[in-house]
This record gives sequence, C-alpha cells and structure tokens, in this order.
Amino acid sequence: MQVRLLDRGILAGLLALAMVTCLAVSDGAQQKPKTLYERLGGYDAIAAVTDDFIGRLVADKQITRFFTGASTDSKKRIRQLVVDQICAATGGPCIYIGRSMKASHEGLGITESDWQVSVGHLVAALDKFKVPQKEKDELLAAVSSLKPDIVAPAMSK
Ligand code: HEM
Repeated sequence: MQVRLLDRGILAGLLALAMVTCLAVSDGAQQKPKTLYERLGGYDAIAAVTDDFIGRLVADKQITRFFTGASTDSKKRIRQLVVDQICAATGGPCIYIGRSMKASHEGLGITESDWQVSVGHLVAALDKFKVPQKEKDELLAAVSSLKPDIVAPAMSK
C-alpha cells in the first residue's frame, strides 16, 4: 500500500514535470524573436517605404538619369522587385525572382556619390515612416552588403 502511494507520488511528480515542460516549450514558441520583416510592419509597410524611396530617387537630379528612358511599366517592375527583395531578405514570405544585383547594375556606372545620395534617400524614407533605429540599422546593413555589386568597381572607394 505504501509502495502504491509512493508510485502515485512519483507519477504525479512526473505529470507535473511534463506539464511544466510543455508550458515552457509552448511559451518558448510564443517568444520566438520577430523577424525584421515583422518588426518593419510587414509587406504594406515595406511597400510604402519602397515607394517613397524610389520616388525620392527618381526626383533627385543626380539620380534621375539612371531611370531616364525607362517606361512606366519598367519602373513599376523595378519597384515590385525591390519590394520583393526587401521582403525576402528580411524574413518575409516573398520570393525574389529578379536578376542578381551585379547583373542589374553592372555597366550603369553608379558612383560612390550616387550610392551615398541613394542611401540618404532610403534613410529619409525610413525616417518618414518612423522606422525605429534598430530596424533602420538592420535594414541599412542588409542593403550595404549589396553595395559591392551595385557600385561600379573603379568608382567605389
Ligand atoms: C540601395 C540598394 C539597391 C537595391 C536593393 C536595388 C535593387 C534593384 C532591383 C531589385 C532591381 C531590378 C532587378 C531586375 O531587373 O531584375 C534594380 C534595378 C535597377 N537599379 Fe537598383 N538597387 C539599389 C541601388 C541602386 C542605385 C544606387 C541605383 C542608381 C543610382 C540603381 C539603379 C537601378 C536601375 C537603373 C535599375 C534598372 C536596370 C535595368 O533594368 O537595366 N539601383 N535595382
């Protein structure tokens, strides 16, 4: 009889342990860190920042020459590819099906100065939508990693 009580005690203990473990595991799942995509506000927020960024690029007298001659549809295509690229790179559900950064920009002769001006416009767009510093830094780091494929080799510092 005493042994049975002991068994019951052990069983109850094991059950409690299993429940605590289950709770800890599900709690852990809930606390999964949010992706940059989620922290930026998801697809619509990324699309809004991209539209603002491209609007600034095209309106800039130093940068606009790169888009001279591009049809409205070609510009829409680039815009959509940039949205998809940022969405995919930040952990979102999109797939980037555009060309590589090297293939897209090689031969355009994008200078260090063009790059700095463009990054300035991206920062302005992120600021306009009040993207917090941490998320801004993470996105800018991701974009900066593309620089060697975008800026013409002889023109980058
Ligand atoms: C800031 C980082 C940049 C990103 C993430 C980016 C991304 C892209 C993407 C996704 C495309 C479309 C690729 C495709 O057609 O398959 C593209 C095309 C293009 N980008 Fe960028 N880009 C960046 C910087 C720049 C800069 C600084 C300039 C010029 C100053 C520029 C000028 C262009 C032009 C002119 C095209 C069209 C090329 C063509 O269709 O022949 N980009 N870019």
